[in-house]
Amino acid sequence: MKKNIVVGNWKMNLKKIDAINLVNNVLSLELLDDVEVVFAPSSIYLSKVNEICSHYSSVNTASQDISFNNNGAYTGEVSAEMVRSLGVKYTIIGHSERRDYFNETNKELKKKVDLAILNDLKVIFCCGESQKQRESGEYFHYIKSQISESLFHLDNKHFSKIVIAYEPIWAIGTGKTASPDQVEEVHKYIRGIIKDRYNESLAINCSILYGGSCNPSNSRELFSQKNIDGGLIGGASLNPQSFVDIINSF
Ligand code: 13P
Repeated sequence: MKKNIVVGNWKMNLKKIDAINLVNNVLSLELLDDVEVVFAPSSIYLSKVNEICSHYSSVNTASQDISFNNNGAYTGEVSAEMVRSLGVKYTIIGHSERRDYFNETNKELKKKVDLAILNDLKVIFCCGESQKQRESGEYFHYIKSQISESLFHLDNKHFSKIVIAYEPIWAIGTGKTASPDQVEEVHKYIRGIIKDRYNESLAINCSILYGGSCNPSNSRELFSQKNIDGGLIGGASLNPQSFVDIINSF
């Protein structure tokens, strides 16, 4: 069954005490039962945040990334195996900030996806076009290549572990949100290519999240679209009330 999911991607923010306070503050507020809440803190806080979340049903954690190697001499890297050993359920893979600043390619991301699956982590796979690609109209083609080159080698069973997050780069951290119609159009397209590659049931059951300046004043309208199953939230997830308002706007 497709789930509604709201993920807070804290990116490289917060000192330890602020991270602990943020998760406790969110969890002290009333949250809709049928929405899965996921916190994606810095990997150095993941163990602590996961421990706090483990007392709540429907509240989980994600790493913001994993290494493209499973273990070995890769100084500074964090592997899927390490993340899973904490009891963490998800990892984000392919965030546009990783693609842009760390030159991550579809081919490398495919390796990360395989390592996540091998280690029993579910994947929140990010895709999305630049402003230039949006304006030139090539965004469908670009998004399809991101998804097909990193995910479509998976068999049906493994594809069922994938959550897609559509994050148009031009809307991330800019205050410019894609309109509900623009997002719905892309989400519908993504569901269509999943159906073509796999089948209708996998397509229907795949949660497709939106990210990019999502906040309490636009989340209700976004989440009311047929193909928008939640959000991957950056800035607004750092404020407990805003994050909870987004979660509760289904
Ligand atoms: P903002 O919500 O700050 O635009 O960030 C979106 C994002 O990149 C979440 O991963």
